[in-house]
This record gives sequence, structure tokens and C-alpha cells, in this order.
Amino acid sequence: MKSACIDAFSDDPGTVEVREAPVPRPGAGQVRVRMRMAPVNPSDFNYMDGIYERSFARMIWNRESDRPSDSPGSGELFPRPPYSLGVEGVGIVEESGGGFLGRRLVGKRVAVVSGPPNGTWQQQTLIDARRAFPVSRSLSDAQACSFFVNPLTALVLVRQVLQVPRGAVLLQTAAGSALSQMVRNLALEDGFRVIDVVRSRAGAERLRRSNAKYVVALEDEELLDAVHRIAPGGVGYVLDCVGGPTGSEALRALAPGGRMICYGTLSREPISLPPRDIMMPMTSVEGFYLAAYLAERALLQRLVLVRKTAQLIGSGVLGTPVERVYPLDALQEALEHARRPGRAGKILLDLK
Ligand SMILES: NC(=O)c1ccc[n+]([C@@H]2O[C@H](COP(=O)([O-])OP(=O)(O)OC[C@H]3O[C@@H](n4cnc5c(N)ncnc54)[C@H](OP(=O)(O)O)[C@@H]3O)[C@@H](O)[C@H]2O)c1
Repeated sequence: MKSACIDAFSDDPGTVEVREAPVPRPGAGQVRVRMRMAPVNPSDFNYMDGIYERSFARMIWNRESDRPSDSPGSGELFPRPPYSLGVEGVGIVEESGGGFLGRRLVGKRVAVVSGPPNGTWQQQTLIDARRAFPVSRSLSDAQACSFFVNPLTALVLVRQVLQVPRGAVLLQTAAGSALSQMVRNLALEDGFRVIDVVRSRAGAERLRRSNAKYVVALEDEELLDAVHRIAPGGVGYVLDCVGGPTGSEALRALAPGGRMICYGTLSREPISLPPRDIMMPMTSVEGFYLAAYLAERALLQRLVLVRKTAQLIGSGVLGTPVERVYPLDALQEALEHARRPGRAGKILLDLK
């Protein structure tokens, strides 16, 4: 079977290779999934260039250890290449390694979330049966393959972490992303306003043609001037996945008591945080990482979340815009396209 692999961390996607690999055999509690489709997400590039491993290595619980783990006391080492890539996708369960859940899943089409070392950018992958969720026939592969990473994050950020109230104003950066589109749809459902910040004029025009109401192009306007024009007292909430100067400015757009969530690092640059900028208005900056959030939730809570996500993907609220589907053999082209500025939707890999 074909598998997209890396041998070492690199920020050059040219180092990813599609190779022949042996068909894996599921162990106890695992299932083997014949993959049908998978998206290319920013997190896939994080697994390529090693930013996850380097970030975890900085955490205090990994001080003095040779290899980082993702949480204190877990003892589980964060994966390191060589490994296959791909965090999520959709496929058909073809074999169970044993266990009640795995056996029940055989033959079912499932949305999966796993990631290296057993990635989804391969024709067959192994997955913990608890990370495979049967999806309704009405959901296309293109929608089902992006089931977890963005829809769950958008839902959790808006309704559970921030609990954005009706009438509030939320500012989001990199607002042309798939996840930001989901936040805008949730805002329409929940009755709050969104200020959408993008880097280019072309990106802003594209958003204005969709359901975005307050759009700021940083190419044309200073972020704080724009926020002052739209919400003179500042915003209650910021969702930032860019960091660098954009994240630093967004922090200053908060109204007293406002909350900013850092959930991505697209610019790869740090945010500057003068302590008084959060002291005087008593604002706060928090981090969010879906894997860590879900690990803290009980099984039943996770199940309720996944069910709600399925319902909202089905109704289109958490639907994923798609720009183009590539076969696995054209992976290099797909990766180049996924890194190109100005995309209108996700790049997907057809693994059939
Ligand atoms: N923390 C978590 O658990 C979690 C979970 C899910 C997603 N995320 C994060 O959410 C963010 C969005 O993910 P997605 O899959 O929705 O993204 P996506 O659909 O692939 O879109 C990425 C967007 O980012 C913009 N962008 C890229 N580099 C940028 C930069 N340096 N400065 C400003 N804008 C930039 C692009 O805008 P242009 O149109 O200008 O090119 C594009 O609209 C990512 O950072 C991802 O890692 C985090």
C-alpha cells in the first residue's frame, strides 16, 4: 500500500515521500481502516517541521528528559520520524485487532483522528477503535474527512471555552480559514458579531462576498483603527491563530475583562505582551489545544460533543469549504497548493 512518510523533521515539504509500505496488522483495541479521503491541515505541517515536539520539549514537565511527552506524567513519548503523516480522514474499517468496539466497527465508514506515527495519508492505517466514529451515509467523504480537527475546535472554542453570549463581539485572525468560516456560521446561530481579520485585500473581498459582515484587510488598514471604527469600546473575545504582530495587536483590541485565545501559530512568530496591556484592562490570554482539551473530558462528554459536531456538519454550520482534491500520487502538488496564500478552501487527498 502507498504511504506518505517523512524520515526526519524538515520545513521543506519536498522531503515527504509517497512509498510502498507493508499493510499494518491491528493490535488489541485497534482497527485497520482503508482510507478514502484526508485533508491537508496546518497541523500536518506542524508534524513535518517538528514544531509540536520542540514546543513540548520546552514544557517544564519535560525538563531533563531526552524525549518530550505531551502531558505531565503520561510517560508516552511524543512521536518522532520516521513516520507516516496525516492527522484525520475518513475510511472503511476492514479489520479489528480484537475488543467489543473494534468488532462492531468492521465494515463501517468512519471518521478518524490519529496522526503520526500512524498517519491518515496512506491507503491503510491503524487506529485506536475509540478514535473512529461511524458517519452517516448522507455525509460526503469530502465533509466526513474533516470531521474532528476544525469542526470540534470551532464548536468547543465558541460554545464551551468562551461561551460567547448573544450580542458580544468576537475578533478572529486568519479569518479566511476553514475554521473561521465555522465560527462565522456559529455566530449567526448564536447571535454574536464577528470582526474578521485577514492579511490581504483579495482575502477580504472574498470574505465580503460570503457571510462576513465586518472584514479588515491588514494590507489596507491598521487593526486597531479598524476595531475602533467597528466596536469603539473594543471586543470581548479574540481568537488568534497567527501570532506575531497580528496577535500582539489583536490583544490590544480587547475591551476590559476581554479574553483572547491563542490556538495557532501560522506566522511562527511570538506575540509581544507588555504586562500592563493586560493588567490595566484586566484582560486575559489563554491557550487552546484540542488534544489536551479532549484528554481532560470524560468519555460521555466527548461522545456528546462528537454527536453535536456530526449534527452541525450535516446541517452545514460546521461544513468545510473545499478548494481541490488531489490523488495521493500528486502529494507534492497538493502540499504546494495547501501552502499557497489566498486559498478559498481545503486541499483534500483522495486515497482510494
Ligand atoms: N489549537 C488547536 O487545537 C487547533 C485545532 C484546529 C485548528 N487549529 C489552528 O487553526 C488555524 C486555522 O486552521 P484551518 O485548518 O482552518 O486553516 P486553513 O483552512 O488551512 O486556512 C489557513 C488560513 O490561514 C491564513 N494564513 C496562513 N498563514 C498566515 C499568516 N502567516 N498570516 C496570516 N494569515 C495566514 C490563510 O489566509 P490567506 O487567505 O491570507 O492565505 C488561510 O486563510 C491553524 O492555525 C490551525 O493550526 C488549532
